[in-house]
Amino acid sequence: MGREFESYFGIDFGTTSSAVVGINKLKGISKIVKYGDEEGLPIPSVVAIDRKTGEVFTGRDAWARQMELSESCEYISSIKTILDSDAIWQIGGREWNAVDIAAEIFKTLKDNVTGRNKVELKHATVAIPIGFSSAKRTKLREAAQRAGIIIDTMVSESTAAFFANYHSLKSATNVVVFDWGGGTLDISVLRHEKGRVAELATGGMEKAGDEIDRQIALRMHRKIARTKGKEIAFDAMPPMAQDVMRVRSEKAKRALSDSDTVRFNINKYGEYGVCREILEYDWFRDIVEPFVTAAIDCLQQTISQSGLGAANIDRILMVGGSSNLRPLQEEIEKIYGDKLYYPEETMWNVGEGAAMLARNPGGYYSNQQVTMLLSDNTPFELLGTDVNLQNWHKEYNFGIVDPDSSARFVFSGSQDIDSSLDKYRSIDLPLYKFLQEKVIVKALVDENRVFRVLVRSTMRADEFQRVWEYAGLKFYYKLK
Ligand SMILES: Nc1ncnc2c1ncn2[C@@H]1O[C@H](COP(=O)(O)OP(=O)(O)OP(=O)(O)O)[C@@H](O)[C@H]1O
Ligand SMILES: [Mg+2]
Repeated sequence: MGREFESYFGIDFGTTSSAVVGINKLKGISKIVKYGDEEGLPIPSVVAIDRKTGEVFTGRDAWARQMELSESCEYISSIKTILDSDAIWQIGGREWNAVDIAAEIFKTLKDNVTGRNKVELKHATVAIPIGFSSAKRTKLREAAQRAGIIIDTMVSESTAAFFANYHSLKSATNVVVFDWGGGTLDISVLRHEKGRVAELATGGMEKAGDEIDRQIALRMHRKIARTKGKEIAFDAMPPMAQDVMRVRSEKAKRALSDSDTVRFNINKYGEYGVCREILEYDWFRDIVEPFVTAAIDCLQQTISQSGLGAANIDRILMVGGSSNLRPLQEEIEKIYGDKLYYPEETMWNVGEGAAMLARNPGGYYSNQQVTMLLSDNTPFELLGTDVNLQNWHKEYNFGIVDPDSSARFVFSGSQDIDSSLDKYRSIDLPLYKFLQEKVIVKALVDENRVFRVLVRSTMRADEFQRVWEYAGLKFYYKLK
């Protein structure tokens, strides 16, 4: 007999804001619950730690009181971008690393769920950017675990966003998802047929809202320096002044979505004191243009990798905060026109899609091949398409034909592997040069959905094992 009440959670751990969405099922009826903060919104991904007491402030509270808290607190935002860094912060009498900071955000997400609908957030499917490194995935898992959340599985953010829009888009076959946030642009080219959703190609870049804000801040700073007739480098300004400038730049960027000029006022900008400027849309468009061009290039390249012509794309789903950039909308409109689809509200999309997958465990398969090139350059298939990847692993043995002091393994199977730098698609294994020596190749998809190949010689100790990691494996999902 099935349980009466079940709940499944999806988490969108964003650079700027983070969301948790639950699907609660009672007697066969599912209800989607968006666990927002006091304002009903996803929580800002910021952590403030009091320099004296070590007290931690997170979420909306930390964000709304940024100016006030920045006097007494160390302010940390966009931790997702530097999740794999070794940075250590000494604050309030203790050391903090990136995982500690990220764990505070996961704790806030967990606390938002606890006590509501009588459920607890213990397991979740978590969405991650395209090509998120294996190291970052491991840290993300650690941070969640620290907050008492076990990550059951991971899914690409852009693919998750499609699931959330499934009902509006289900009559379309070839759908591209364009998800541009604060830290990354993530693109999935998907083929959807009768509940089967396949990733044909994925792509992305690490240039997004945060970097745009920094460019606006730098340009704005130069403008002020000129007006005041005194040259001080932006990075030489007091940290608080830099923060204020970035916050104002972000605000101005959003305001320029629907007005042609904005007032830009800062009352205490370091040595410059009171600053009053007017920002024109044209000036802003010039700053944003290189980002827009890079994003559209990335979109076109990813579409081209999918093997589909632009004419075969039915819809382009536009999500993520930076998709609201007016200069982007103007450009992309010219190319794709009425293929573009902007859902009414996108901030819960990624979390909701992840929750839908959490409800549908085990329904994921490989949608690409991974091969290893043999010495005569013929491909040997390590992983085929259409393979159920739940606990998948395989081992192969190779004899050595021409013993040398080392063997080179080159991987292939998809365009993105082929176009990666040589050092990212090959490994060298030291050999022992005996004829009876064999090479054991073990392939698997790990708990973080990274495809791994472990290569070792039967005559060498384990420390000589070599590992090849591929974080771009494409999947297909069967939605029930
Ligand atoms: N109207 C707007 N015009 C331009 N940019 C906007 C607008 N609204 C929000 N943004 C930007 O969108 C970004 C946040 O988007 P989003 O919430 O999708 O990011 P995220 O999910 O936290 O980040 P990521 O997915 O990259 O980890 C911020 O950089 C914000 O400044
Ligand atoms: Mg996002």
